[in-house]
Amino acid sequence: MGQVLTAGTPIAVIGAGTMGAGIAQVAALAGHPVLLYDTDSDRLQAAVSGLHAQLGKLAERGKLGPEQAAAAAERIGTARDLGELAPAGLVIEAIVELLTAKRDLLSALEDVVKPEAVLASNTSSLSIDAMAAGLRVPGRVVGMHFFNPAPVMRLVEVVHGELTDPAVVAAVHELAGSWGKIAVRVASSPGFIVNRVARPFYGEAHRLVEEGAADPATIDAVLREAGGFRMGPFELTDLIGQDVNLAVCTSVWVATHFDPRYTPSGWQRGLVEAGRLGRKTGRGVYGYDGGAKPEPSTAPRAAVPAHVSAGVGLGPLEPLVARAAAAGIQVEPGGLPGELLFPRARAALTTGALAGEAAGGLPLVSLDLAMDYRTATRIAVAAGSGCPPEALAEVVGFLQAAGLAVTVVADTPGLVVMRTVARLANEAADLAGRGVAEAADIDLAMRHGANYPIGPLEWADRIGTERIRQVLDAMEDRYRDGRYRPSLALRRLSGRSPRGEETGR
Ligand code: NAI
Repeated sequence: MGQVLTAGTPIAVIGAGTMGAGIAQVAALAGHPVLLYDTDSDRLQAAVSGLHAQLGKLAERGKLGPEQAAAAAERIGTARDLGELAPAGLVIEAIVELLTAKRDLLSALEDVVKPEAVLASNTSSLSIDAMAAGLRVPGRVVGMHFFNPAPVMRLVEVVHGELTDPAVVAAVHELAGSWGKIAVRVASSPGFIVNRVARPFYGEAHRLVEEGAADPATIDAVLREAGGFRMGPFELTDLIGQDVNLAVCTSVWVATHFDPRYTPSGWQRGLVEAGRLGRKTGRGVYGYDGGAKPEPSTAPRAAVPAHVSAGVGLGPLEPLVARAAAAGIQVEPGGLPGELLFPRARAALTTGALAGEAAGGLPLVSLDLAMDYRTATRIAVAAGSGCPPEALAEVVGFLQAAGLAVTVVADTPGLVVMRTVARLANEAADLAGRGVAEAADIDLAMRHGANYPIGPLEWADRIGTERIRQVLDAMEDRYRDGRYRPSLALRRLSGRSPRGEETGR
């Protein structure tokens, strides 16, 4: 098609709700004449007044020049019927998330817009192929998935169906980039990148609560303070809405023909059925009526152990020894590879097995993963039922002396952060391996669409894909429900980088 979309291209935005209004603001600020259309004329008028007010506020706060804000406001017009959208070179629809409604709209648009106009959908879950089916020119239909709030969130997933013209994908990708967005390419598939790869962040947290490993406030704290995530899964879903999060999960589960990796949580469904939707209803996982937020469970202060030695090959745990040394604790060489040795206990990074299953010797305390052991402020640990409290206390005392708050969780395969990250990496490797998206784009998408501190594939690189595979295999062995099975892509990597450096991809 030789598609070119420039700053002067008129843009039509259909659906003047939350997303449509945000997208109109982005396009107008980027210099495009924007025509906004909605079947509900009250919503349309409210959106335009809201946009004017928003642009005015940005100017007042000094985020925009007053002329810039006024010019953007002036570029936003409204259409009373679809026919008025004829001049648009790009139409972005953000109407209700219903396949039939979107199909009808696209088919009506075919009779209105020029043959070379691009038809983009902001759908978060529908198939681009299904939407384009039956159109005269399916090649011009593309997904342009913005994140809420569209003016703030930098990610745009550019979603292509089987029939989408590559020139259309390239033009939309370039246009989004010229708006200051981070655009990633992804093939139409359930959840695209972000809503697919992020599922375990919620799913594992739900399972931990369901199994009584720890309470929500503790899991949130561990994922924030050890995992480096900006928000824990429970505070985040209370913000998004438990109903909205459950709907995304259910839609990916259904679209993947009930893959057990995405089975929705019965516990979360219970919250939704009880009307505990989160901040918007005043109560979700937490209460929002002004009461104090529950504190995470933190182990009481324990004595520094009399003696500590470290085996070779501690891997990701290495910085813990340096932190302890900096705090004046002498760590001698000694003990088994990959383990810290204390008078009455040993400690090692979780392998995905239960701590209580460890063979022979002193009782084993499993240590959870931290994104960066040099800076983490908390760490989760677990011991088997055969581990005496005074043995566990030696490990706790050591970690506390190294400057970490310690959370003791029930003996759980893969503890908290490791199981989450192993599954995120598995999802990401699976998408890359299937060619749904490039590895680099998957990491970018998770950092900018979900605010992850680091992309899951870069994370997998740091920990080692072989270790991730071992953790997943061990967990699958414990649960035997298909949820932790390593993807073929992860198995094929067998220790190599998922980001292609060593495979030359
Ligand atoms: P919304 O309910 O705030 O707005 C939808 C608007 O579309 C309403 O004003 C409605 O009157 C209008 N509308 C419905 N049918 C129409 C039609 N046939 N023609 C013209 N206008 C019509 O919905 P929201 O949240 O803005 O979502 C819109 C789309 O964006 C959906 O596809 C949704 O999945 C997607 N999306 C939503 C995100 C969110 O966080 N809300 C994030 C990313 C994508």
